[in-house]
This record gives sequence, C-alpha cells and structure tokens, in this order.
Amino acid sequence: MKISCGTDIIEIKRIEEAIEKYEEKFKDEIFTKIEVDYCESHKNQRFQHYAARFSAKEAIFKAISMKLDKNYSWTDFEIINNESGKPEVNLKTEIPEIESIDVSISHCKEYAVASAVVLFK
Ligand SMILES: CC(C)(COP(=O)(O)OP(=O)(O)OC[C@H]1O[C@@H](n2cnc3c(N)ncnc32)[C@H](O)[C@@H]1OP(=O)(O)O)[C@@H](O)C(=O)NCCC(=O)NCCS
Repeated sequence: MKISCGTDIIEIKRIEEAIEKYEEKFKDEIFTKIEVDYCESHKNQRFQHYAARFSAKEAIFKAISMKLDKNYSWTDFEIINNESGKPEVNLKTEIPEIESIDVSISHCKEYAVASAVVLFK
C-alpha cells in the first residue's frame, strides 16, 4: 500500500474571472451539479467555494500524477461535504488503483488552498 499527497493554492479572482468569461462551459467542464449547487448556495461567497473545489481537484491530480496510466477528467472527482461540513471525495469513475482519497480545504477572501492524500491499493 502506498500513499501520495498533493497540495494546491489558487487566487479566487482567477476562478471568478474564468466563470464569468466562460460561464456554463467552464463550470460543466470542472464541476458536477452537486458541486455547483453547493457553491451557488453560498451566493456572495460562491467563488471561494468554486476555487476551493478547483484547488482540491488540482491537489488530487498532483497526488495521482505519474502513478496512473490513464488521464482522468475534473468531474471524475466530486467534492461533497458530509453532515459535519468535512469535504469528501466521491469517485465518479472506477479507478482500480485507488483505495481512498482524503482532502482538506481552506479559503479566505483572496486565496483557496487544498491538500489531498491518496491511498493506493
Ligand atoms: C469548520 C471549520 C473547520 C471551518 O474553518 P474556517 O477557518 O471557518 O474556514 P476555512 O476557510 O479554513 O475552511 C472552510 C472549509 O472547511 C471545510 N470543513 C468544514 N467543516 C469541516 C469539518 N467538520 N471537518 C473538516 N473540514 C471541514 C470545508 O471544506 C470548508 O470549505 P467548503 O465549505 O468550501 O467545503 C471551523 O469553523 C471549525 O469548526 N473548527 C473547529 C474548531 C474546533 O473545534 N477547535 C477545537 C480544537 S480542534
């Protein structure tokens, strides 16, 4: 069994600009409906939540890069908050090499950060 970690930081302004410029096309490529609904429910703070999810997926990609043969898409990894608010990763596609993934997210006015730990079988 092997573990790998990844981390990412992003300027929230970049995600806000991308969403405003490319609208649904950008959202559809990166986020699932559950993720969009969660972010949009935060109204004025929605870009912090979008950026945090983008960052979490980047962190996951860093953790799995070089370890898997196939390329996966952004929406293969869905970030869902559990009842306590902790983000969990819902794998939308089967990745046989992966046992589990954990992520942690933080955001403030300007930046979102995330770290991911991937446990391989
Ligand atoms: C929930 C809590 C962790 C959020 O922290 P915050 O500084 O207000 O906000 P941050 O920007 O750093 O983090 C927000 C992210 O925390 C994550 N989060 C929320 N609840 C969480 C929980 N129970 N466990 C882990 N992560 C959680 C979410 O991913 C959230 O982002 P999202 O809504 O976009 O998914 C914080 O309010 C809290 O309750 N801390 C517990 C403090 C405590 O009990 N201390 C005692 C000693 S350990």
